[in-house]
Amino acid sequence: MGALATGAELGEAEFRAIAALVHDIAGIRLGAGKEGLVRARLQKRLRALGLDDFGTYVAHVQALAHRGELAEMVDLLTTNKTDFFREPAHFAFLEQHVFPALVQRGGPLRFWSAGCSTGAEPMTLAMVACEALPEAAAREVRILATDLSARVLKQAASATYDDEQVAGVSEALRRKYFDPAPGARGPAWKAKPVLTQKIRYARLNLMGPWPMKGPFDAILCRNVMIYFDKATQERLVQRFQALLPEGGHLLIGHSESLSGAAHALTYVKPAVYRA
Ligand SMILES: C[S@@+](CC[C@H](N)C(=O)[O-])C[C@H]1O[C@@H](n2cnc3c(N)ncnc32)[C@H](O)[C@@H]1O
Repeated sequence: MGALATGAELGEAEFRAIAALVHDIAGIRLGAGKEGLVRARLQKRLRALGLDDFGTYVAHVQALAHRGELAEMVDLLTTNKTDFFREPAHFAFLEQHVFPALVQRGGPLRFWSAGCSTGAEPMTLAMVACEALPEAAAREVRILATDLSARVLKQAASATYDDEQVAGVSEALRRKYFDPAPGARGPAWKAKPVLTQKIRYARLNLMGPWPMKGPFDAILCRNVMIYFDKATQERLVQRFQALLPEGGHLLIGHSESLSGAAHALTYVKPAVYRA
């Protein structure tokens, strides 16, 4: 264990092996320059397993008997940054242009937060729906929220966030939709059932088969595709499109782009597409 006092070194061959596994499983590209990130994120895992070096760790992950470790490794290498009311233009768009048409249509309002991380995105959507929709329509909101990472889904399911995590929520909304609750690291806020009842969390790898049939009135896949290569993005957008009815929307991150990807969606405005 001597080397671990200062941290095990990550050689180029091990980095390439790890990057290939992560790409195969999750579609995530770990290009040159990500060595430091991989080393930092996996260091603790090596220590927990009592392994001295990355060569042994890679062999351990690759061995068929350690399939669980592969999921663990991919989980640790996902980037889960998220915030309440992140990219607020999307929520204003939903409120002004999407909700009114859905209220007029009637029936359930179906959303999918694909790559939901710890739940700030579906929670924000639920809150905006409660604020903007007539009560009867708000009761009809159903949000499927999925992620590859079991770690983030565990927090999402707890619906509990510390002060820093709810910083994007105004005090008025925080009082209305959250109760004070003990958190893992001090005082925290637990979302009320009026929000949590609208959301169903599930673990789903976007690269694998999708059990749900849709349709969804809007799919939010924001700040997820940025980690995928162009071909993977294109396949994904085509699969999203198949789950959108005519007039359904796909919302992507504002720093992402579908340019160069073949799809039949109509560009509405930055980061908003319509089927
Ligand atoms: C940066 S977060 C974005 C969270 C949220 N959509 C937002 O914009 O705030 C990206 C999320 O995508 C998830 N992710 C990455 N690859 C995935 C895959 N192949 N299938 C499902 N989720 C994936 C990660 O686990 C992570 O939680």
